[in-house]
Amino acid sequence: MIYEPDEDSFLLVKHIKRLAKNKRVLDMGTGFGILAETAIRSGAVDVLAVDINEEVIDYVKSKGIKAKVSDLFSNVNEKFDLIVFNPPYLPEDEMEDEETRRITTGGKRGYELLGKFLASAKSYLNKKGQILTVFSSLTHKDKIDKMLKEGGYKFDCLEKKKLFFEELYVYLIFKD
Ligand SMILES: C[S@@+](CC[C@H](N)C(=O)[O-])C[C@H]1O[C@@H](n2cnc3c(N)ncnc32)[C@H](O)[C@@H]1O
Repeated sequence: MIYEPDEDSFLLVKHIKRLAKNKRVLDMGTGFGILAETAIRSGAVDVLAVDINEEVIDYVKSKGIKAKVSDLFSNVNEKFDLIVFNPPYLPEDEMEDEETRRITTGGKRGYELLGKFLASAKSYLNKKGQILTVFSSLTHKDKIDKMLKEGGYKFDCLEKKKLFFEELYVYLIFKD
């Protein structure tokens, strides 16, 4: 199963259009590749797409995007100017089947995968590198702000969007 681009994907697309020009970009958890494609079209000098799901990687490679299977950074060996990540960020829901859970659930509370990503991401950013990400009010915004501060990151909330039962937050995160 591959994640169908949704509100969260489209929010990131909007910001990638102005942020990706002349940058080396990593699309973490690429899904259908919408964020990688946007970066390519917006003038990024190099784009790598990674995902934990092999089906995803076969698909995006067939579209001509440079891509490889990786569990977060496990198979990433370069540094980037911009890392974009629309992570699975929802809290665990026992009713959800295993396949859906893998693309939408960030852990028991929702923020665990994003936390794991942030713990390593700094080492994969060039000087002045940035991270563009999105998460939901269901992900516990306070916890994410705390993780960012403790990790030594600076960040701006670029946009908030109210949906039916949640609010989405788009964050631009700075290493330096
Ligand atoms: C919410 S979808 C986003 C897909 C796409 N980037 C978009 O914006 O439409 C999350 C993606 O992260 C991938 N993913 C989940 N856990 C991962 C991990 N540990 N490492 C890399 N990718 C992961 C999923 O397979 C899925 O494709």
